[in-house]
Amino acid sequence: MIKICFVCLGNICRSPMAEFIMKDLIVKNNMINSFYITSKATSYEEIGNSIYPPAKEKLMEKKIFFDNKKKASRLEKEDLNKFDYIIGMEEKNITNIKRILNSNDEQKIFRLLDYSNNPRDISDPWYTNDFEKAYNDIYEGCKSLLDFFIENNIV
Ligand code: 4NP
Repeated sequence: MIKICFVCLGNICRSPMAEFIMKDLIVKNNMINSFYITSKATSYEEIGNSIYPPAKEKLMEKKIFFDNKKKASRLEKEDLNKFDYIIGMEEKNITNIKRILNSNDEQKIFRLLDYSNNPRDISDPWYTNDFEKAYNDIYEGCKSLLDFFIENNIV
């Protein structure tokens, strides 16, 4: 069982999109029993809040199932030992994740697009309002991550 926690600043836009896009990919690849997937925030801003409505709309448009009861929660120090992979959306998330977890474990903590052909940050649609770009970047990241697990016999 591979345990993954996706992480962004608020846990209402990018990391829940990554959570449900990855779940969709593993369902379609018949790997549902091989993964445990969730998502969390580095900040306390949105704790307890639902996925941001424009992010929900984008997931619906792309026919990605999501849990309407998903609520933002914060990454905590104990999560270091609970997950195999703790995956941020941008470099700022990585800095914050390493601080919260007090760890520099780069086998466990990295950016979603680090394993893609074009490693880069995923811009925050909370500020850019570009949910289509966020979706496409996150999809590319999740697909690259799944390919990485398969190619390296991790799953
Ligand atoms: P996210 O976007 O990190 O992709 O969930 C944000 C959502 C809310 C805030 C910041 C980023 N906020 O400051 O409330």
